[in-house]
Amino acid sequence: MSDSVGMFIALEGGDGAGKSTQARLLVDALTEAGFDVVLTREPGGTPAAEAIRSVVLSPEFAGLDPRAEALLFAAARSEHVHRLIRPALERGAIVITDRYVDSSIAYQGVARGLGVDVIAEINLWATQGTLADLTVLLDVDAATGLERATDPNRLEDEPADFHDSVVQAFRTLAAADPDRYLVIPAAGSPEAISAQILDRVRAEYQRRSQ
Ligand code: TYD
Repeated sequence: MSDSVGMFIALEGGDGAGKSTQARLLVDALTEAGFDVVLTREPGGTPAAEAIRSVVLSPEFAGLDPRAEALLFAAARSEHVHRLIRPALERGAIVITDRYVDSSIAYQGVARGLGVDVIAEINLWATQGTLADLTVLLDVDAATGLERATDPNRLEDEPADFHDSVVQAFRTLAAADPDRYLVIPAAGSPEAISAQILDRVRAEYQRRSQ
């Protein structure tokens, strides 16, 4: 969103990496500092996207065709970007999303084996090229993350090697684009991790406002 001072931040990581906690801490700190902040999540964030979420994550649909899964995530994202994210960025808000396109690349593109390029392309189309300005990867081993994860869903039921490849995929994405990624080993205290994220967000915000 280079044409406004809005800023788009995505939190990513495997299941149980602590994204929701960090999202809340970041929202509280930025709100306290006087920013207009919008917190949202994927899949979801609008009524239609939340309805898609209830289908795509439901254990009732075990064995859902991987292409259908990828398209449902992209469909939810398209609605989310169009109805919530872009309008908020256009009015200058800081938008924080718990998961975004890189989740589809890691889970559907790599772990499901659909291919990184096709998932990237579908999502570029679905989002009309709306990329995160900063992506924070909360990096935790799959096994540790799954132990911590509450609220089981259809994806969490996948075997350990699926989750290992998700974690590896995020690391690869981050290594390929260090300017847009902040990687934080999720072993520290929530407060220490939050302080690191806030430092980077402030620096990025200042850089964009100049
Ligand atoms: P959620 O309960 O939000 O899990 P978490 O707290 O770990 O974020 O469930 C989201 C699940 O959907 C999670 O297992 C990751 C998966 N997912 C994808 O596979 N592709 C995607 O594009 C997105 C956004 C999520």
